Amino acid sequence: MGRSIYCVVTAAGSGTRLGNPGPKALVNLAGSPLLHHALHTLESLKDLVGVVVTAPQDYLEAFTEIVQNAALPYPCKIVAGGSTRQYSVYQGLQGLLTFDKDEGQLAPDDPDAIVLIHDAARALTPLDQFQRVCSAVASGCPAVVPATELVDTVREIAGESFTRQELEITPAGATPDRSRLRCVQTPQGFAGNIIFAAHQQEQEADQVRGGALDDAMLVTRLGYQQYFVAGSRRALKITYPLDLQLATWMAQNSN
Ligand code: CTP
Ligand code: MG
Repeated sequence: MGRSIYCVVTAAGSGTRLGNPGPKALVNLAGSPLLHHALHTLESLKDLVGVVVTAPQDYLEAFTEIVQNAALPYPCKIVAGGSTRQYSVYQGLQGLLTFDKDEGQLAPDDPDAIVLIHDAARALTPLDQFQRVCSAVASGCPAVVPATELVDTVREIAGESFTRQELEITPAGATPDRSRLRCVQTPQGFAGNIIFAAHQQEQEADQVRGGALDDAMLVTRLGYQQYFVAGSRRALKITYPLDLQLATWMAQNSN
């Protein structure tokens, strides 16, 4: 038997950029909620012991209904997420600690458990991407991140100016070497003891630091090396309405 795998699926976001009413994970994607697609792929992941889904506090019942209707072949529970993705993952990790594996309950210092953290927003992530991540963790990598090459050249904004809005006329700065950069996806995979320690440390230091964009960054702060494996375009993060249109086409033409 392989190493036990646990997964936190983050789905507690509101989907502001998508602009639909209600949380993004409940949005209809080719006939089923986005969350359903994310959970469906996990049905074929060998050695999966349990999944925790983070949900917005006001939607716990709706999420529970999706899980029940899906009749999943693995234990799956819903926990309330937090106001940031990082805090939602922390809550999800706590939820994992109540799953039983054969020899007993998952402990936060278990180095043999493989813990995946996956965004429900990447609802069409292929199974082989999960498998690549798990294999790399099983081979001894403490933190594994699926990644793709960039299609666009990237360029910095000069000086201190920073905006998430559409750019005004703004001075541009340096152009990093794109061949050395990667776009980072999920699922990210970790040795169990390392991801619990990373999030625990961050909970204790949160006031001072914050600013981690993903879970692998937290593990790097603990001093561990993270490793890339191949990601895929199919694992796109459904963020804007156009992404949902593309994902709908993909889901309808997947065979
Ligand atoms: N997420 C979460 N808890 C939060 C914020 C985000 O569990 N407090 C989850 C989202 O549900 C999503 C993943 O983290 O699956 C990545 O977040 P993102 O794509 O940004 O989704 P939203 O935050 O929902 O979207 P937006 O930023 O447009 O509001
Ligand atoms: Mg967000």
